Amino acid sequence: MAMMKLSLFLFFFLIFYIAADTIEITVNQYTGLKRREIRGIENKFYQFQFCACPKKLTDRLVANNLQKCDCSGFERGKQLRESIGIAKLSNSVISKIANFDEETSRLLVKVLAGDRTLTWPDFQTIPMSNSKSEVLLTTLPNSKMRLAYTTNSIQKSTPGDNIPVMTNEKPKLSKLSTFFKTFRKSGAKKEEEPKQKYEVKAAPTPVTTFSSSLEINPEIRRLSNMNAVKSYLFSRSRVDKNEPVSYDVQSLKNMIVSYHNIYRSKHSALALSVDPVLESRGKRWADELAYHKGCLIHEQPRVYGENLFFFGARHLPNPKTLAQAVTQSFYLEGIGYNYSNWRPFSYFKTGHFTQLVWKKSTRIGVGISIVKANTVRSPCMSTSSNNMYLIWVVVKYDPAGNFESKNEYLDNVRPMTSSF
Ligand SMILES: *[C@@H]1O[C@H](CO)[C@@H](O)[C@H](O)[C@H]1NC(C)=O
Repeated sequence: MAMMKLSLFLFFFLIFYIAADTIEITVNQYTGLKRREIRGIENKFYQFQFCACPKKLTDRLVANNLQKCDCSGFERGKQLRESIGIAKLSNSVISKIANFDEETSRLLVKVLAGDRTLTWPDFQTIPMSNSKSEVLLTTLPNSKMRLAYTTNSIQKSTPGDNIPVMTNEKPKLSKLSTFFKTFRKSGAKKEEEPKQKYEVKAAPTPVTTFSSSLEINPEIRRLSNMNAVKSYLFSRSRVDKNEPVSYDVQSLKNMIVSYHNIYRSKHSALALSVDPVLESRGKRWADELAYHKGCLIHEQPRVYGENLFFFGARHLPNPKTLAQAVTQSFYLEGIGYNYSNWRPFSYFKTGHFTQLVWKKSTRIGVGISIVKANTVRSPCMSTSSNNMYLIWVVVKYDPAGNFESKNEYLDNVRPMTSSF
């Protein structure tokens, strides 16, 4: 069987800034059926349905008591034939459940292939988790389906907050809506041009002079989780008070590249060079996220490797601080990484890191978009965010990393050889 190059370099950086008290479920990856199992239904699609049901209802009873649950519609995944060869699929299926009360409800999923229900029992409980998770679902006949997903509780931001942060508070709620469809619809409204666009300063630094002399700020190097990164940026933005409207985007881009190369050099990976095509693709996608999507979503189809970052505040920290923080936010996923081991789906937890240090990637392009929060109409955006600015960072890599094979990982993700 020919080895397929799968687009497994999509990662969700779901740090939603947001709207109402809802739960959002993103399916990031799942194992597909084998060739012999899909004969006659190759053109059908995988489908996912999510329900919030009373905790006292057992999995087996759910199917006959759906009136007691809040369920999403059927969200379409990949076409079945795309699983032939290597039964592993990447794509995002996003559902949103409103009014989910974690005290009294739990979350279940049902998976179908066309009209055929794959899961047995139909509905199976999946844990709520604010970080990336995997579950093994039981399927007929007697096998397992691996499902990688994220649930996010999305809460109203309080007016006056300077920064959107992912909340750890328990979500509360009750009505179910389908985020995926809303999302698609709003994404399709291309004609709705944003009212305000902020022009950014032209390059103040020639591209040739920006590298190597940047020092590593040990404070940023010590940030070991996303919340720490966010709080740090929050505190720095209050001190630096850079105006988003006239932010030095070119310096930020240059320094993101430089920090990538410093971090890469610690892992036996050569420096990446800036590629104008990647840069313009990155910019295009950053604008798409900023003006239309309003959520961190990977570009499809995925031609390049891609890492995403998002931050919002009234002011911004200086470009150097932000550039290292962006790079560190990718790098921190490598904490505890086992360089002599590999398991499928590992990209899901460590993909930003492995793409960052991936040896075979040689080119990079950074796209940045800064918008005023209230110019964006999106299901992920709060309306109570006047005076807030959102910065979207899209980093494209070529050749793409995270090629799903053990040897590729062992070759391309090398242990640290020199310290920072
Ligand atoms: C890393 O993986 C190898 C191979 O599976 C294993 O022998 C080793 O114990 C692991 N190391 C750590 C620190 O987990």
